Amino acid sequence: MYEILNKEVLAQGTVVLNEISAPRIAGKAKPGQFVILKANETGERVPLTMADSDPKRGTITIIYQVVGKSTHMFADMPVGASYQDVIGPLGKATHLEKVGRVACVGGGTGVAVLHPITRGMKEAGNEVIAIIGARNKDLLILEDKMRAASHVLKVCTDDGSYGHHGFVTDVLKGYLTGPEKVDLVVGIGPVPMMKFLTKLTKEYGVKTMVSLNPIMVDGTGMCGCCRVTVGGKTQFACVDGPEFDGHTVDFDELTQRLAAYREDEAKSWARYKEECACRTR
Ligand SMILES: Cc1cc2nc3c(=O)[nH]c(=O)nc-3n(C[C@H](O)[C@H](O)[C@H](O)COP(=O)(O)OP(=O)(O)OC[C@H]3O[C@@H](n4cnc5c(N)ncnc54)[C@H](O)[C@@H]3O)c2cc1C
Ligand code: FES
Repeated sequence: MYEILNKEVLAQGTVVLNEISAPRIAGKAKPGQFVILKANETGERVPLTMADSDPKRGTITIIYQVVGKSTHMFADMPVGASYQDVIGPLGKATHLEKVGRVACVGGGTGVAVLHPITRGMKEAGNEVIAIIGARNKDLLILEDKMRAASHVLKVCTDDGSYGHHGFVTDVLKGYLTGPEKVDLVVGIGPVPMMKFLTKLTKEYGVKTMVSLNPIMVDGTGMCGCCRVTVGGKTQFACVDGPEFDGHTVDFDELTQRLAAYREDEAKSWARYKEECACRTR
């Protein structure tokens, strides 16, 4: 069983961190890889990226945004409770090599996914500029960890409550037009953010890797649920990704596919809320 050893609420009750006992996964995990978790026998399979892993302690860390039924179920689990299943590590690890100057750009919970990649890019000998953003100060996560993982950290908020007032793409543009060139951009966040970020970097001809989050079921390339179009070809994000060359991703198709079950997801969340209310009445 996969016991929760540590739990922290990172942002206004909407972003939760769990450190989970999973020695065999922790021994193999690499930056960029993910796991699929189930809370209990009847629970949904939920893909989440490993934000960290510690082979000595035998633990992995996940950081998730509480958005619907399953993530609310996860958030309700206390320290000492166990996940029924944790499968992984899944997906291809990030290709970490020395390329020169790398900009690691993260939005919202995407910063959790970006953190081990940023650290890995620095360890590989790159000069790393990290740019992170959130809608407001209270939703910003991992600022200290991202500062430690990079050489320069820039922080942005959409409402100007902290750091630069504006989007991460505004700050990135300053680097793309500046005197020193950026050799690689890694951008991870909400799909609209990755879409606009890749549009910007394409103008400046800077290679950009993104991490895609289509709906996944098995996570092993069998069901076809996670298919995305990259460079005009169908790819399965769970085995061919989740990282891809952002300039060749069909983001509009990804947006449409992510919204395919929105009505059912809303009903499922409403039912779960009602059941919780009944239990506490
Ligand atoms: C490889 C990968 C890594 C991810 N890493 C993280 C992470 O580190 N942190 C984080 O907060 N989120 C991550 N996600 C997204 C996370 O899986 C969804 O937020 C979660 O499944 C929502 O489930 P729910 O029941 O709470 O919400 P629901 O109400 O069921 O869904 C809310 C939204 O989440 C997405 N979603 C729903 N089911 C799935 C599914 N089976 N697979 C993928 N997306 C789904 C859809 O866009 C949906 O509209 C990742 C997704 C993928 C594919
Ligand atoms: S999740 Fe089934 S093929 Fe990728």
